[in-house]
Amino acid sequence: MDKKKLILVGSTGVIGSKVKELLSTDYDIIDVNRTSGDYHVDVSDADAVEAMFKTIGHFDALIATSGSGKWGTIDEHSIQDFHDGLNSKLMGQINLVMLGRKYANKGASFVLSSGILAHETIVGGLSFGVINAGIEAFVRGAAHEMKGMTINVVSPSFAKKTMEQMGMDPEEGIPAIEFAELYKLAIEEGDTGLVYHFEED
Ligand SMILES: NC(=O)c1ccc[n+]([C@@H]2O[C@H](COP(=O)([O-])OP(=O)(O)OC[C@H]3O[C@@H](n4cnc5c(N)ncnc54)[C@H](OP(=O)(O)O)[C@@H]3O)[C@@H](O)[C@H]2O)c1
Repeated sequence: MDKKKLILVGSTGVIGSKVKELLSTDYDIIDVNRTSGDYHVDVSDADAVEAMFKTIGHFDALIATSGSGKWGTIDEHSIQDFHDGLNSKLMGQINLVMLGRKYANKGASFVLSSGILAHETIVGGLSFGVINAGIEAFVRGAAHEMKGMTINVVSPSFAKKTMEQMGMDPEEGIPAIEFAELYKLAIEEGDTGLVYHFEED
């Protein structure tokens, strides 16, 4: 039997690369990033996203581990920083669902990425808090109306590697593969409208 076709947006990132590692045996993965992969697309550009779906055609699952935003205090934020993060991470993922659902096969599964800052406040995390809360609200709302397919969101806390990249002590961080397991659950469990979190044993 043919493998299911999975579009993985953000496959070169800290978390996306682990999702790819975990799912590449069972799925036919199409990599999408801004600068590398099978398709190079900036997902904040709706016309480019539409063109990508036209080229790829029908698919069974889409995982987005993409998007960027401003890390910094309120004093370090400009209005443009909010717009840039909302366009990249929030609207980028909304574009993928809004434009992708007409190409999604029956029973298809979408999994987006939010983050712990939707619910927890730390200095530096203002933009991501706003963006992540918006993504979770979108997923809950869309799940009510997207019949015949599922949509869920994974909310990572901090990955060890990301903490290292940010110059933070990685001791409290989570190996990115643990987050990848949540994306696998989200596309395979058949539930919809859920926020998946990592929970310590
Ligand atoms: N890592 C963490 O600790 C953590 C914690 C909470 C939430 N999250 C969220 O989880 C998701 C994955 O995080 P990550 O740390 O793996 O991210 P990352 O290492 O920064 O990687 C981001 C990936 O997304 C792609 N990408 C970024 N913007 C894009 C755009 N506009 N269009 C297309 N592709 C784009 C990048 O490709 P290019 O390099 O080619 O642009 C890269 O493959 C993000 O939404 C992040 O906010 C992560």
